[in-house]
Amino acid sequence: MSSNDKSGVLHVYDGIEEMDHHLPNWWLFILWSTIAFGFGYWFYYQVSGTGPGSMEVYKAEAAEAARNAASNKPVSDETLLALMQDAQSVEQGKAQFTQQCASCHGQKGEGLIGPNLTDKFWLHGGTPVAIHKTVSEGVVVKGMPAWERTLGAERVRSIVAYVLTLKDTNVPGKAPQGEPAQ
Ligand code: HEC
Repeated sequence: MSSNDKSGVLHVYDGIEEMDHHLPNWWLFILWSTIAFGFGYWFYYQVSGTGPGSMEVYKAEAAEAARNAASNKPVSDETLLALMQDAQSVEQGKAQFTQQCASCHGQKGEGLIGPNLTDKFWLHGGTPVAIHKTVSEGVVVKGMPAWERTLGAERVRSIVAYVLTLKDTNVPGKAPQGEPAQ
């Protein structure tokens, strides 16, 4: 730049020119897009609550992990108790219970033909694994069907997850049968 051409020069100090060039458009474009994106992001996640929060994402992932763990591993007290914490499995189990089990065990598991599932007393054991065994294999001679072959392993697990939520809710109904369990 020649010393006569002063366009774009803000100040000159001791012969050093301070320039005021227009910022390149590509740079401005990135600047404004970033700001616009920032506002959009903030609005989506923080203001409107449309986007899932990190806690929701975490819970969904944890629930999914619990379901996967339950379907990959052999059933254990731990996997069944984890499934009991998973709202989706319990919800599915409840729907199945209403369809398949309520006719003999009552809508709330309070017992009819079959035992009360909400008291402390169990004929075949009250641990998650024991309940899972009774539901899968049944007690056919006593009128409790074996459910695994009709409903499949996954539905049986979600039903057991639901039955575990009924445990110890003590709904008044059929008198206790069997042994008290923890
Ligand atoms: C046709 C009636 C009938 C249906 C349907 C039925 N049950 Fe039962 N269930 C029984 C009877 C009867 C017993 C008691 C067996 C015995 O006396 O040993 C029983 C026992 C049980 C037990 C063991 C209770 C204990 O005290 O140890 C569980 C758990 C159970 N049922 C869960 C279920 C679930 C879950 C379903 C649905 C998938 C279901 N039952 C459907 C009749 C039924």
